[in-house]
Amino acid sequence: MNQNNLSLPSGCILRKATSGDQWSIRLLVFSAKLDPTQLNWQQFWVIEYNDNLVACGQLRNFSGAQELGSLVVASAWRGRGLGSLLTQHLINTATQPLYLECLGQRLVKFYSRFDFVPICFEDLPQFPKTTGLSTLKDKFRFSQLAKRLLKVPVVFMKYQGQTNS
Ligand SMILES: CC(C)(COP(=O)(O)OP(=O)(O)OC[C@H]1O[C@@H](n2cnc3c(N)ncnc32)[C@H](O)[C@@H]1OP(=O)(O)O)[C@@H](O)C(=O)NCCC(=O)NCCS
Repeated sequence: MNQNNLSLPSGCILRKATSGDQWSIRLLVFSAKLDPTQLNWQQFWVIEYNDNLVACGQLRNFSGAQELGSLVVASAWRGRGLGSLLTQHLINTATQPLYLECLGQRLVKFYSRFDFVPICFEDLPQFPKTTGLSTLKDKFRFSQLAKRLLKVPVVFMKYQGQTNS
């Protein structure tokens, strides 16, 4: 379902990240124990309130695909629609087929609202390698290993709607 009708709580601003945001972004991502790789601020969108970052999320670039990642809402701000608004915004901004990985059924339910559907590792496309970019499947291979060997409940998901490619 499209969630474009969501609105931000009063005083919150959605904007592209700037270089001054990089430490706040890292703090949000580390505090949520999310993947600490590829945290280039240039790829992030953030929500701020009173000059403080209260949420962030990014689109990581891969060969022929993008990954919606690093989605975090500061704990005091959860449950007020910020995560949904940022997710829908990142979907609207994507220019390549869009994927993500998440942990557990609650997040699968959350992302299903935006037309993401679970996909098994074997069905992830192996896009031709573009110079300078790794493939999404190579990145997800590590999670797949953790899933198989350590029973980590990782779920890969693919966005089924149209991105602006
Ligand atoms: C997942 C997350 C971004 C949602 O942000 P939010 O602003 O609270 O979300 P919204 O208010 O737009 O929507 C609420 C929905 O978020 C989901 N949600 C809320 N807390 C959650 C949690 N602790 N774990 C998983 N999903 C959660 C639920 O689906 C909830 O809907 P429900 O109340 O009907 O169950 C936020 O909980 C968060 O930052 N979690 C920690 C980091 C994380 O797991 N990020 C996802 C990486 S794939």
